Amino acid sequence: MFNLKQINSQESLDDPNLDIEIRKKIFLELDSSNQKLFVYYFFLLYFSKFLKKNFEKGESVKILELGSGSGGLAREMLKRFSKEYKIDYYIYDLDPGILEWAQSNCRKKGFECKTILADKNKMGNFQKDEFDVIISLHTLHHVHPFSVLEELFTNAVLGARKGLFFVDFHRRFGHLFFVKILSFFSLFSSSLLLDGKKSLERAYSLEEFKKITDRFKLIFEFKLFFWNPYVIIQCSKHDQ
Ligand SMILES: C[S@@+](CC[C@H](N)C(=O)[O-])C[C@H]1O[C@@H](n2cnc3c(N)ncnc32)[C@H](O)[C@@H]1O
Repeated sequence: MFNLKQINSQESLDDPNLDIEIRKKIFLELDSSNQKLFVYYFFLLYFSKFLKKNFEKGESVKILELGSGSGGLAREMLKRFSKEYKIDYYIYDLDPGILEWAQSNCRKKGFECKTILADKNKMGNFQKDEFDVIISLHTLHHVHPFSVLEELFTNAVLGARKGLFFVDFHRRFGHLFFVKILSFFSLFSSSLLLDGKKSLERAYSLEEFKKITDRFKLIFEFKLFFWNPYVIIQCSKHDQ
């Protein structure tokens, strides 16, 4: 079984010293685990409610996805919503090689997205209302230190005309139990499980997220699940 006592450090996915082909392999595993564990399914389920609340059917929706990895979420989003809405989709990540690869992964499945290269030390430098919605999956816990996460929220609130929709882990009591269960069933490789463990250790607590969101004159909703360590953080500017 996977050893939970391995050292705590940065995830392999963020490690610029790790060969890009190895990172691509881990990203593809993550994409496959997102499918197997219904992570995309639940993201799309809750995001469809967010879309219904904020947009009319057939309306244009300009979406920016922060930390797009393999482009798996982009593919699923475009597959699910392109018929109902006019989706203009942008992926945003740190490595130009990974971004191009993610874009080509989407193209291979018949979906088009545009790329924006991120700057590791300056999380998002968006124009006011540049996008309709800014989203992310499994990305917030990669954004350290805390001051950069604060900067990310400030820039995303500015850059998103209609709102934000983030899905991530949050750090709470017993959070590593989740990885232990996954490792028990041997569903994933040890490198993905190790990244999962590091992710849960680096995840922000609910209190930390609230410390940031309380500073805005906007209502942020938090949805938690007792059976897993995910949190959905959403804000519809329209309501307020
Ligand atoms: C765990 S992966 C998530 C990939 C994808 N969203 C998924 O769930 O399969 C986190 C992603 O965030 C990206 N990332 C980390 N820090 C970032 C930053 N400061 N700006 C943009 N992207 C960043 C990483 O390169 C990586 O692609």
